[in-house]
Amino acid sequence: MLGRSAFVIVANRLPVDRVGEDMWRRSPGGLVTAIAPVLQRREGAWVGWHGAPDEILEPFEHDGMQLVPVPLSESEVELYYEGFSNATLWPLYHDVVATPAYSRVTWEAYRTVNERFAEAAAEEAAENAVVWIQDYQLQLVPAMLRKLRPDLRIGFFLHIPFPPVELFSQLPWRREIVEGLLGADMVGFQRPGGASNFIRLCRRLLGLQHHKHEIHVEDRVVRAGAFPISVDFGELDSLVREPHIISRAREIRAELGDPECLLLGVDRLDYTKGIGQRLKAFGELLSEGAVKPGEAAFVQIATPSRERVEEYMRLRDSIELQVGRINGEQGELGQQPVQYMHQSYGRDELAALYLAADVMVVTPLRDGMNLVAKEYIACRNDLRGALVLSEFAGAADELRQAFMVNPYDVDGLKRAMLTAMRATPHDLSRRMRSLRRRVSTYDVDRWAKEFLTSLESSGSSGAQGSPESQGSLESPDSPESPESSGAS
Ligand code: ADP
Ligand code: F6P
Repeated sequence: MLGRSAFVIVANRLPVDRVGEDMWRRSPGGLVTAIAPVLQRREGAWVGWHGAPDEILEPFEHDGMQLVPVPLSESEVELYYEGFSNATLWPLYHDVVATPAYSRVTWEAYRTVNERFAEAAAEEAAENAVVWIQDYQLQLVPAMLRKLRPDLRIGFFLHIPFPPVELFSQLPWRREIVEGLLGADMVGFQRPGGASNFIRLCRRLLGLQHHKHEIHVEDRVVRAGAFPISVDFGELDSLVREPHIISRAREIRAELGDPECLLLGVDRLDYTKGIGQRLKAFGELLSEGAVKPGEAAFVQIATPSRERVEEYMRLRDSIELQVGRINGEQGELGQQPVQYMHQSYGRDELAALYLAADVMVVTPLRDGMNLVAKEYIACRNDLRGALVLSEFAGAADELRQAFMVNPYDVDGLKRAMLTAMRATPHDLSRRMRSLRRRVSTYDVDRWAKEFLTSLESSGSSGAQGSPESQGSLESPDSPESPESSGAS
């Protein structure tokens, strides 16, 4: 029997996690931030896991979205989610900043769970529906779903970087992953470098021919392109104009002792985010006297993430030790230079924090996009505030007016933080105006529209879409794409 939805999102997580009887909490991460408003504005369904193990739930409606839960057992959470997705693919796709684990047992669980997601999507999708599969946890689903439902139009979007061939080739199941992705009509990446890495891989590993964006797979054409994801600019821009957010922003500064400069970091507690690097730089600015105690406060908000994965446990210990050291050595009674919160916050509180912060410090060692950087910009309609941004975030391609840094270079990071802290209002407003122009023009609606338009005009016939709707691509033969150098 065919399902009822003409548009289906498939993602590892639903936009909400079940945390108790009839109690739901917004799921962490940028994927949910971006996809939820897209689905709320279209008729459709979201197929995904509801965040708790060993529970079978019926489909339900939440916040204007039709949600279809996919169950995972406790052991699948451990092997498929914590294991293959987050201890193998996550570090491998992020420049091996941690060492990936290769395990046949976790791979088997990944395959089994991907099959379950494909079946759930096949059941939910109406005839000729558009199914949009999201992210690295579900890379086998496109081919599995095509086998079950050849009538569907299938898109896939990778929210994290796609590594260069030299790194990807470490994966013992590299062929299966690439064949899985090629089940889609359209494979989208954050950056042109990711798309070229994928095309190059298809040629080297499977000997497939391509012409620009189009890869020839038997009798089909699969398109690959870059579609940089974004935020709901309009929603954030209106939120920060509300009086209760403005007064909360003032209150936050007062609670911190009205420092001359408030620096802010907001991340999932993840080793790719460069939290340790930015704290080290701030700690040295204090210990060397470049920043006086009381002159600046650093607020680091770190959402708990993947807490049972070993690297994440180690990271938490090391960040908490580092914060304790800085405060112990540089603080005074009743005044600590670093405020560290290992908690999730609601949208209003985050918006107030963005509005309160003079310098937003975003320093990932590698990041698909980084929506926090774009959220900060969307919240600064006062044209104040400085963004310090890692050149290794996908967002760096677009946000050229940020204070760019290499997070591995601690002295460079210190210089950039100081420059941002001391920038003139004129310089800040000039930069912020240009950053806001970019993010307001390329917001999340435009991202979804460009991807879906391109998907709708692609497919087995090899039909051509308009050039504007194909996303961008660097030449797969150019060696210098941002995601093509394992060393960067
Ligand atoms: P990732 O997808 O790797 O987590 P992004 O920066 O792209 O990174 O997206 C993170 C999303 O999670 C943003 O929308 C941000 O507002 C949200 N977020 C980050 N930290 C917190 C927090 N402590 N509480 C609530 N939301 C958070
Ligand atoms: O791409 C960002 C992302 O990895 C999403 O796929 C994921 O949903 C989110 O961050 C948060 O991670 P997790 O679902 O493992 O908590």
